[in-house]
Amino acid sequence: MNKTIGIITGSLRKNSFSGSIADYITSHAPSGYVFKIVDISNLPLYSQDHDDIEIKEYTSFRNEIKALDGVLFITPEHNRSIPAALKNALDIGSRPYGQSVWNAKPGAVISQSPGNIGGFGANHHLRQILAFLNVLTLAQPEAYIGAYHTLIDEKGALSDEETKKFIDSFLADFVTWVEKIS
Ligand code: FNR
Repeated sequence: MNKTIGIITGSLRKNSFSGSIADYITSHAPSGYVFKIVDISNLPLYSQDHDDIEIKEYTSFRNEIKALDGVLFITPEHNRSIPAALKNALDIGSRPYGQSVWNAKPGAVISQSPGNIGGFGANHHLRQILAFLNVLTLAQPEAYIGAYHTLIDEKGALSDEETKKFIDSFLADFVTWVEKIS
């Protein structure tokens, strides 16, 4: 049976660069794997008061994560950290206390930026959070994709062959990691 990996992107932008990497990956998944996008754009801002009430968007998000065999995060950098929408989703999945849906999930991180350092700050802030949440995050290879605006075609799709090759090999390493720790 196929394993299912959720892709969470840190961007809510239409025609997002992160989304274009996600689109490439959903159509180039390694054999035996399905990669599907998990939408975080509809999640209300988290408050601890919400732990005591039913919020249907939270429930369905948490159930969706629980059912996954792993999570791949693809994110831009906002002010040298992760975008607020992504932090919100991580917080929602981590609560109520003791019921985190992230615990022991295999994970991996890709960051991208038009800048040269490829979202390094966001990538490592995210890794710090994932360490605390006990997401078993692939250490190597790291994926910082810089100058992303030069790697897409006029429709915004990933078109650079070297980057496609790098992502293919990153995915191969990620699924090897998932198999190892599953
Ligand atoms: C940015 N951007 C940005 N880029 C970067 O390399 N380092 C940074 O600290 C920031 N900070 C930042 C803050 C805010 C509020 C915005 C809106 C943008 C640029 C941003 O990362 C870039 O546009 C993304 O690569 C776009 O990715 P998506 O949203 O298309 O996936």
